[in-house]
Amino acid sequence: MPRTYQKLHRARAARNDEFYTRYEDVKAECDHYLAHFFNKIIYCNCDTESSAFVRYFMELKQRGLVRDVWYSGGLGGDDFRSQDSIAKLQAADIVVTNPPFSLFREYVDLLIEHEKQFLIIGNHNAIGYQKLFDKIKNNEIWFGIRRWTGGMNFITNDGIRGVSAVWYTNIKHGVIPPELPFTKSVDMPQYDNSDAVNIDKSSNFPPDYKGIVGVPITFLQWYNPDVFQILGRDKDFTYDKKVCRINGKSKYIRLFVQRKN
Ligand SMILES: C[S@@+](CC[C@H](N)C(=O)[O-])C[C@H]1O[C@@H](n2cnc3c(N)ncnc32)[C@H](O)[C@@H]1O
Repeated sequence: MPRTYQKLHRARAARNDEFYTRYEDVKAECDHYLAHFFNKIIYCNCDTESSAFVRYFMELKQRGLVRDVWYSGGLGGDDFRSQDSIAKLQAADIVVTNPPFSLFREYVDLLIEHEKQFLIIGNHNAIGYQKLFDKIKNNEIWFGIRRWTGGMNFITNDGIRGVSAVWYTNIKHGVIPPELPFTKSVDMPQYDNSDAVNIDKSSNFPPDYKGIVGVPITFLQWYNPDVFQILGRDKDFTYDKKVCRINGKSKYIRLFVQRKN
């Protein structure tokens, strides 16, 4: 990449990171985890003092509902990858934040490496990240309580912007996702490179079908591990280890799932 382009690319990535979470969204989700937060050290490692996360947890601290709240200081503050931040990460009990989109993979890697409890915001598409997907498949990471519909609104320098974001967590909140709606039966063609069949819309998943079905990632909003098993992603599962194809045409990311008995 030429240097000027690299610089531009970085600047764009940084600008795309400046999406601030609204207080009401933090509260609506986090209020469900109060029992988990009680007496814990909460670390908001991508946040300044003015962040909605820090304000929310400071209030809990004043009410004696968390032990302490630590934050990074944000841009110009501690990088979440710095030694200081990692030391705090290890010492804290639970990490709660909306990390920079451009560093999401690195961010998730760090949480997984340090086996932290967390509640974070990320894009729907982050599911395409293999390590995160594997944890979701194994029911070690799941989604928060907020539903996927409509995404989430964030505060940016250009006003409010909608993003297809969800909460990712490994804290048990006990809320079961809604039942997968069924609208109508459609033809379910078999892939060229797998025995499984394809559907493009999760609501076309027949309630009585027990075979393996390739579904779009949005299926996960209805994923209940008591009802479905996730077998793998397209590339883990196709004969040629490539994305799913039908009549030579590639499909966007597909997950292979099967209804449990
Ligand atoms: C999506 S914004 C969210 C900000 C805040 N957590 C919130 O929810 O309002 C991500 C923030 O992470 C900060 N950031 C970017 N790179 C970072 C890094 N390496 N370490 C810590 N924070 C970083 C950005 O400045 C940005 O404010």
